[in-house]
Amino acid sequence: MLSTVLITGGAGFIGSHLADTLLARGYKVRVLDNLTPEVHGNAARRPERLSDEVELMIGDIRNQQDVRRALKDVDIVFHLAARMGTGQHTYEQAQYTSVNNTGTAVLLQQLIHGGVQKLVVASSMSVYGEGLYKDVHGQLVENVNRSVEQLQQKSWNPVDLEGRPLLACPTSELKQARIHSAYALSKAAQERMCLLAGEAYGIPVVALRFFNVYGMHQMFSNQYTGALTIFAWRLLNDRAPLLFEDGLQQRDFVHVKDAVAACCNAMDMIDSGCSVYNIGSGQSTTYHDVATMLARITGREHIRPEISGKYREGDIRHCFADISKAWKELRYRPQVFPDQGLAEITGWLKEQSTADRFIRFGQN
Ligand SMILES: NC(=O)c1ccc[n+]([C@@H]2O[C@H](COP(=O)([O-])OP(=O)(O)OC[C@H]3O[C@@H](n4cnc5c(N)ncnc54)[C@H](O)[C@@H]3O)[C@@H](O)[C@H]2O)c1
Repeated sequence: MLSTVLITGGAGFIGSHLADTLLARGYKVRVLDNLTPEVHGNAARRPERLSDEVELMIGDIRNQQDVRRALKDVDIVFHLAARMGTGQHTYEQAQYTSVNNTGTAVLLQQLIHGGVQKLVVASSMSVYGEGLYKDVHGQLVENVNRSVEQLQQKSWNPVDLEGRPLLACPTSELKQARIHSAYALSKAAQERMCLLAGEAYGIPVVALRFFNVYGMHQMFSNQYTGALTIFAWRLLNDRAPLLFEDGLQQRDFVHVKDAVAACCNAMDMIDSGCSVYNIGSGQSTTYHDVATMLARITGREHIRPEISGKYREGDIRHCFADISKAWKELRYRPQVFPDQGLAEITGWLKEQSTADRFIRFGQN
């Protein structure tokens, strides 16, 4: 008999790609998603992008009955449903806490009574806050902060207490969480709740700390990688990408195919126990790099990114993944190079006649 997989939030960006791959691998795929208007628009229609073979249950992760129905006869759960947000703003705190934490609690309460063999939960790089740094002596520094005064002076890079530069280095799972936003707090709590329940009830739980996942069908509003789509869209319309600060913030852009492969490896892994993995590309890339690559790909080399010098409080300067643990234990091997992935995004955007309807969600 075919195994049945439930993807919560499976109508969204990563979930719909995951559904395609699981269907291709012969699984029965069920999705529980409330088609949040901020992601899917007000029409709340089944996304065209979601394969017809997916059994879509429109329901809320916070609703016990919806979750109970969704879990019926399910073997494996991917918990992706979440509300996402940016910066330090707290005006949506109740939403993050409600969906990401209460929703996870409801799922766990229902799941522990059933026959679920594994839970894979989407965690986030946001739990780290700033990434890991080294000081001038080569010592690791975990608790890096940028003061508002520093940002006002446009001194973008973190420094030590004596004002000496710190060097960004890959962030491993061992780095302490450093929570900078209500969203990050909700993701850290979500991850921990799943691991605790897994340990208590003997259900293997794998938490994947996704870095900046990008690819076709991502929203302009996506807090992690929406900027990439906006850059590409602006270039295709002969406008310069706008960069915050000096554009040299380092990130780890990982293609959605690689993120999906990590999900599948987590599902397949025998004796995974309860574990946490960084899922990035293993490379650091700046926003300036991305804007320049996109200008080349779109044939707009003459359009240079515009450095705004503006900043957002709570933004981190640098964070990119050390993926050695996932490489070793999860056999995770990122395959998609940035050039390839960005060319794909650009091709997809060119085909979108309605892409401009999304742009109102974007920051640029
Ligand atoms: N995209 C990234 O770069 C990234 C990075 C780190 C972590 N993550 C995490 O990965 C997961 C998926 O991210 P994504 O980019 O696909 O996001 P997305 O917004 O495209 O998808 C999330 C889905 O969850 C659904 N949802 C929201 N509230 C719900 C509720 N109350 N009940 C049921 N469904 C609900 C939404 O309708 C949406 O379809 C999230 O948990 C996110 O925190 C994503």
